[in-house]
This record gives sequence, structure tokens and C-alpha cells, in this order.
Amino acid sequence: MAQVKAKYLKDYRAPDHTITQVDLSFVLDGANTQVTAVSQVRRVNDTAKTLVLDGESLTVSQLLVNGQAHEYREVEGQLHLDTDLASFELTIVTQLDPQANLALEGLYMSDGAYCTQCEAEGFRRITYFLDRPDVLAVYSVRIEADKAAFPYLLSNGNRVDSGDLGNGRHFVCWQDPFPKPAYLFALVAGDFDLLSDSFTTKSGREVALQVFVDKGNLHKAHHAMLSLKKSMAWDESRFDLEYDLDIYMIVAVDFFNMGAMENKGLNVFNTKYVLADKDSATDEDYHGIESVVGHEYFHNWTGNRVTCRDWFQLSLKEGLTVFRDQEFSSDMGSRAVNRIHAIKVIKNQQFAEDSGPMAHAIRPDSVIEMNNFYTVTVYNKGAEVIRMMHTLLGEQGFQAGMKCYFERHDGQAVTCDDFVAAMEDASGVDLSQFRRWYSQSGTPELTILEAYDADKQAYRLTVSQHTPATPDQSEKLPLHIPLDLELIASDGRSLLSQVFSVTETEQELVFSEMAERPVPSLLQNFSAPVRLKFDYSVEQLIHLMRYASSEVAKWEASAALFSQAVWGNVEHLKAQQSMYVDPRLVDAVKGLLLDEALDKALLAEVLNFPSLNTLVEQVGQVDLDALAAAREFLIEEIASGCEDELVARYRELASQDDAGARALKNACLTLLLQMSDAHQVLAQRQYEQANNMTDSLGALAALNQEASQLRDSLLSDFQQKWADTPLVMDKWLTLHACCPGEDRVTALRELTLHSAFSFSNPNRVRSLIGAFAAANPLSFHQPDGSGYRFLTEAIIKLNTLNPQVAARIITPLIQFKKFDEQRQKLMRAALEEILALPDLSKDLYEKVSKALA
Ligand code: TRP
Ligand code: ZN
Repeated sequence: MAQVKAKYLKDYRAPDHTITQVDLSFVLDGANTQVTAVSQVRRVNDTAKTLVLDGESLTVSQLLVNGQAHEYREVEGQLHLDTDLASFELTIVTQLDPQANLALEGLYMSDGAYCTQCEAEGFRRITYFLDRPDVLAVYSVRIEADKAAFPYLLSNGNRVDSGDLGNGRHFVCWQDPFPKPAYLFALVAGDFDLLSDSFTTKSGREVALQVFVDKGNLHKAHHAMLSLKKSMAWDESRFDLEYDLDIYMIVAVDFFNMGAMENKGLNVFNTKYVLADKDSATDEDYHGIESVVGHEYFHNWTGNRVTCRDWFQLSLKEGLTVFRDQEFSSDMGSRAVNRIHAIKVIKNQQFAEDSGPMAHAIRPDSVIEMNNFYTVTVYNKGAEVIRMMHTLLGEQGFQAGMKCYFERHDGQAVTCDDFVAAMEDASGVDLSQFRRWYSQSGTPELTILEAYDADKQAYRLTVSQHTPATPDQSEKLPLHIPLDLELIASDGRSLLSQVFSVTETEQELVFSEMAERPVPSLLQNFSAPVRLKFDYSVEQLIHLMRYASSEVAKWEASAALFSQAVWGNVEHLKAQQSMYVDPRLVDAVKGLLLDEALDKALLAEVLNFPSLNTLVEQVGQVDLDALAAAREFLIEEIASGCEDELVARYRELASQDDAGARALKNACLTLLLQMSDAHQVLAQRQYEQANNMTDSLGALAALNQEASQLRDSLLSDFQQKWADTPLVMDKWLTLHACCPGEDRVTALRELTLHSAFSFSNPNRVRSLIGAFAAANPLSFHQPDGSGYRFLTEAIIKLNTLNPQVAARIITPLIQFKKFDEQRQKLMRAALEEILALPDLSKDLYEKVSKALA
């Protein structure tokens, strides 16, 4: 293990030197690719005598200062160059082998095309540089390559020159007028199909829009293009933000570590978030494309025009941009359903991160490998923190804050604190205590007790907050928590709906003139990312399901009712009593099923009862087997209690052609099949008659809840049909990964040898191995440890191949504290084995060493 040192936020220092301009020249030639970087360096600290540049796995063939050879030292990951000059031109020539780059950082090959990924610290794999986001330079780029194999040569900004060089080679030059940090640099060279369109901004400028996809996929690029145009129009109308270059390009590549990347004017996307047609993509895929295209587009202002001072500030751009893409999706579709999806991410993934060994604040204090901090905490809890400010300031105050933020900081690299200060100054709202959300990690618990005094007609809520210690931070302070609540009368009337600020460890809210005890809808719309502890009765929850004004609150109540019933039965099992279902729960579900006025997509969310993972997150320690048994029992009881209604609803929806209907239909089908094999025929017919991927996959997923002959035969039919479409084969891999069963691992091990799978492609790895570990808890946690072994073997392979992906899929293994002693022992042993690897990557080292600490 090479020496690993954590970096600390408190050690941040402004750079000694900066680079104002860089001219890059790429000669792309397979394993002998040459990069010439000519940088204009300026000293900003007059006492500095050494220029220190970042670099990784680089071969330098030439280095000049003002055109003259100059001495330098290569010190582990850095280049030191002694000089007294206040400003100078630095020329560095490096040789790269993009074909050998399987980590997919820096310059690499994706399926025959050259492409780059520089965030967070990938630019240093291209040339020695001041690879930190507070160094902003203007870039010009010249790319030279074989013309037949690489007809398109792309980089950031505007295309300013091009020409033929003879002997089959050509070149293109690009210039980006906006100063940017190195992480936003991009280059792509390849042969593509091109979808072109244009957008006229509100001030009347015409922007050329281009989506590049692998040959033969042009017909699958339209939804991405449409999403881009919607994003551009929405950012103008909601945020008054306009695009700033004459061209906006999106390139879809097969090999990509994440979803997409917001490089200035040249976004690089995972094909998963570009390619779609009705046959091959689900409604969820369509939605994912719209939200990721939006996300990357919105970064142009929140990330690119105003960027981060240092990587500890990542949530400055990511939390804010996730908030913006969530608002975009909500304005384009169902606000309630989008909110429910966001809440689910926090409750089953972010809460899990908080209660595991990698707990960190949305602005972390220390980092070993930056790639490990592109997390649900920084992104999604970060978005919740922005949303709370929006709740406290209101849309108008928030927009005033955004305006102030851009007026102050356009063209700068700034901190989260700068953002909060702009919000505060523009709105006049005091956010001093609120700032703790940036520095404090862990999930706050909000405990609420109610009391009703009939004589005084007073209703009182006692609210207390407590954040449990996390491994990174033992002391916690009270936070500023916006508590949105509604009080509902027994006849369903809304008595009050208001946001209160909870700031003390304990405080009281008293409501007078309450002629009767109201039912409280607490933490409406999930107004803060906290665990709510309130002892709701079954009646109260049913009342909320019926009368809460907010659709999200209805869903929350249904999920709470279900969860309570599951945990009640876990207790029964422990006491060796038989399990029990409250008929009122079944009736409540039936009531919703019969309510034709209820939004279908919302009802589908209700019927997708809390997953095993969500339930695991609700407790400190879990008996996984009892929990699974209780959950299954309850679903079967509810489904058989509502069988007629489910079948009727299913039939009625079968012919409807909209995403909400499909979601509800598939939710009904899933329940029916979980209840009885007799309904398999419904799934078979749906699969055979499907004219879209949502229906095909819905049928397969419903069948996939249990091993059966029909399941096997339809899965193999699916495989034959889609063998040539990798993104669809990913769905097939995931179905295999998520099928329950004690001996899943034998089948999955075989699948790693299947032609549809490859360890070098992150989408394949995530679809098979990532999905197994994260979404099939019963098989992953087999008591014999076979699931852990399978994941560990894959991680050991990926440790050298693609450390970023390895460190991402290890997550379920480091969250072992929730499980029983026997399982913990096996999980720890697997982690020990990984920690002992001779060439362990920084990425894995950080996570595994923290887990075992
Ligand atoms: N900034 C990208 C986004 O959220 C994230 C990203 C894409 C990324 N590729 C990456 C982060 C590689 C780290 C490494 O839109
Ligand atoms: Zn982002």
C-alpha cells in the first residue's frame, strides 16, 4: 500500500501559483498519444520559490520554461520546479497510453473512441498541472487524429479551426472563452451518429445542439435532445438563467464510471442516460434521462460559471444542482411522485450512509480519495439542505438569493459558506444556526409527543431533537429544522398548515382553540432530512391516508402503517407467536385501490410497500430473516385481502397507454404474483403482448420474485431477443442478480463468464454485482457467507482494474453493524482480506480501513 494521507478542509491554502491560459495539443495515436501543454503561469504568493504541479502515472518527454530546458524533480504524484519568476510560459510534453487506461479517468478509450473524464482529479493523468478547482484558466485545444477512424474531434467551447494534414490525418481547434478549472476540460474523438437541433435563448441567440451516439443509435437520441431543450427553457423561466456558448454538445459513451459529466459545452454521458426508445427503455429510463440531461445542463451555471474553491465544497455544486434537477422533474411531471422518489433515496441510502463507517457531513472535513465523496450525502442530503433553505426563504427569497449569488460570484471558485451568505443577505433570514447542516454529519432524530387538554382546548406538541454520534464526529449540536405540519380535524377538515422552525434541543408548540384533538401530519413533504419519531396509532395513520392535504403525506402514512405492522410481527415471531394482520390496514389499502380519483402513479408508490432495505434502515440491529418473513407475510395478507380489487384494477389498466397506468398495473401484478402462482398467467400474457419495455420488464420483475419454470423460459426469451442491446442486457443481468434464492451465487458466478458481462464495463458490473449486493439483501446475506464471497472476489478483481467502481459496489459490505454476530464475522473477514491486498487502491483503503476501525 502506497502511503495514504488524508487531506483536511482546515488545511486549505490558496495556491502559490496560478495558470491563466493553457494551450493543449493532442496527437492521438493509439498507445503513443502525445500531449503538449503550454501554460501561462503566474506567481500569486511572492515568497513562493517552487512551482508544484500534480501528476499521476505520467511520462514526461520534454519540459521548458520560457522555451528553455529547465530542471525539475518528480516526487510521488507531483512535479517540483524551482523558479523565482513572477510569470512564465511552461511547456510540458507527456506521452499517454489511453488503451491501457481501464480506470476510465484521464484520457481513455471507450469502444474505439477517445474520451476524457477529469472530475475530480483526472486532468493530472493527462499532464502535470495545478489540478485544483480554484485555478481557473482559459483553454485552447488542438486535436489531431486519423480522419477515417475519428471524423469527429471535439473539445470545450467553440470550434475555431480545422483542416486536413495529408496521410489520412486531420485536425480541429477549439477555444473556450470561459475560464474554467481543469476538471471541466473534455476531449472526445471518434465516429458517431449525430443528432442536430437548435435552441433560441430568451435574448435571441441561437445555440446549436448536438447529441453524438454510437453508429446505428440515432433513433434513440431524440428523448435526450428533447430533454435538453426543455432544460434550457426551464432554466430561463424558473431561474432566469441563459446558456452562454454558441454550441452545446452531448456525447454518449459505453464505458463511464458515473451517470454523466458537465464539462463546459461538451457533456459526456453514460449511454444509459441518453439512449431510449419505447421498445428498449422503460418509463423510468425516460425519466432518468430527462433528469440527468437536466442535471448536467443546470451545472453550466451551478458548477461551471460559479465553481468550487476546493473539493470539500463539492455539495456547493452537486447539492444545488440536484435540487435544481429535482425541481425541473417536478415542474415537468408529478411533483408528489418526484418528491417520494427523493425521500426514498434519503431514507434507504443516505440514512444508511449516516449510520455506517463512512458517515460524513455534506461538506466533509477530511478526505483520502475524493472519488469516494460523490455520495448520497453530498448529492442528495445536500439537495435536502438547499430545499430546507427554499422552505425557510420561500421561492421569492430563494430566487433573490440565487441572483445575489451569481452577481457576487460569477467566474469565481467559492465555498458553501459564500452560497449561504448570499441567501442570507438577499432574504434577510438568519441562517447562522442553519449553517450547522454543512458541518454536522449524522441523521438527526426528531421526537414529538402530543398532549390534548380538552378543558383549555389546547393541543401541545413537545418537539425534541438529538443527533446520535457518528464515527467521524462525537459531539453534535442542535440544528435549525424546518418542521412543516398540518393539523386535521376528525371530519377531515384542515385546521392549520404551517412551517415552524425547531432550533432548540427541546421546545413546545401550543395550538389553542382546538375544539377536539386533531391528527397531526408531521414533517410534511419531508421538510427536513431527519428521522421522525412519533407514536402514531393505526387510526391516526388511516386518517392521514384519507384526509392529509398533501399526497406525499398520504404516502408517508401508508408506508408508516405498513412498517409498524411489519415490526409488530417481527416481535410476534421473536415471542414465537403467530403473525397477524390488522383488518383496518387491509381495508385502508382497499379504499385507495377503489379510489379512482387518486393519481395512479401515487397509488403505485403506495402499493410498492417499503422494501427490505428501507425497513433495515429503521432500526439499529436487525434480525434479517424474521424481518423478511414478516414483510412477506404482510404483503401476502394484504394482496389476498384485496385480490378482487387488484385483479379488477389490473384489467382496467391493461389497455391504458400512459406511464402512471403502467406503474400501477405493474404494482398490482407484483402483489398478485407474490400472493399466488395462479396469477402467473397474467404476467405471461402481459409479457407476450407487451409493446413497450415497461410492460415487458414489469411482467418479468413480477415473475422474478420466485423461481419458476415460466420465469426461466421468459428470461431466456428476453435474452435471445435483446442479445445485441447491451443496455437491455443490463436489465437481464439485474433480474438474475435480484432473484431470491439460497444458491443465487452459483448462477451469478456463471453469468460473470457470459458474453453479456464484462468486468471492464462499469454498467455491466453495476447491473450484475452491484445490484446483487445492494438490491437482493436476502441472497447477499446468506448465512453461509456465499454472497459476501462473491462480492469480495469481484472487488479484488476490480481493485486494480477500476478502483472507483470497486469502492462504489463495496458499500453493502461495510455497513455490517446492523446484522447479527455470525454475519458480521463473515463480513469483517471479507473486509480483512481486501485490506491485506498488496496493491490496494486508495479508494478501497479509505472505505475498508474506516469500516474495520
Ligand atoms: N459531476 C458529475 C455529476 O454529478 C459527476 C461525475 C461524473 C463524476 N463522472 C465522474 C465524479 C467521475 C467523479 C468521477 O454530474
Ligand atoms: Zn452533478
